[in-house]
Amino acid sequence: MTWEELERSCKQCEKCRLCETRTNVVFGVGARDAEVLFIGEGPGEQEDLRGEPFVGRAGQLLDEMLELIDLDRSRVYIANMVKCRPPKNRDPQNDEQDACAPWLREQIALLRPRLIVCLGRIAAMRFIRPDFKISREHGQWTIKDGIMTMALYHPAALLRDPRLRPDTFVDLKTLQKAIRDYCTHTY
Ligand code: URA
Repeated sequence: MTWEELERSCKQCEKCRLCETRTNVVFGVGARDAEVLFIGEGPGEQEDLRGEPFVGRAGQLLDEMLELIDLDRSRVYIANMVKCRPPKNRDPQNDEQDACAPWLREQIALLRPRLIVCLGRIAAMRFIRPDFKISREHGQWTIKDGIMTMALYHPAALLRDPRLRPDTFVDLKTLQKAIRDYCTHTY
């Protein structure tokens, strides 16, 4: 499957009830040959309206986090675990997450990223390990399906609790070092 084919079928997806209430499918954004993939949880209101991940307040902070390590969204790829907004931002239910998972799997197969960064506890628990503890394990690399993977605090968590920011700065530096060590065209 090509990126275009994948995006076309994803945007027509009716595999779960979230298709009934969405405005847009939020497929993902960035370079389709990016070496670094960021994975968020799922679209909120702004993302649903615009069809792009991380465009609200948390997204603004994500852009600032990227800038701190000389990145921007055109040089990485940003996607979510779940592509459609759950009504009133409720947590996606297990069957909705299961129905959506193959889209992200296909995106990873096409992208073949060197590094994956989960944004927040929910994405890390879903993508890395169900018992992932973000307060203890943020910023630590682990190998997931052969790909170096880590989690950062979710930008929305950093907005709620600015005391988490110094740790995130260190984690971003850890990410920057890995990009220098393992990526060939991100720098
Ligand atoms: N939070 C997420 O996890 N993803 C988005 O796209 C926006 C906010």
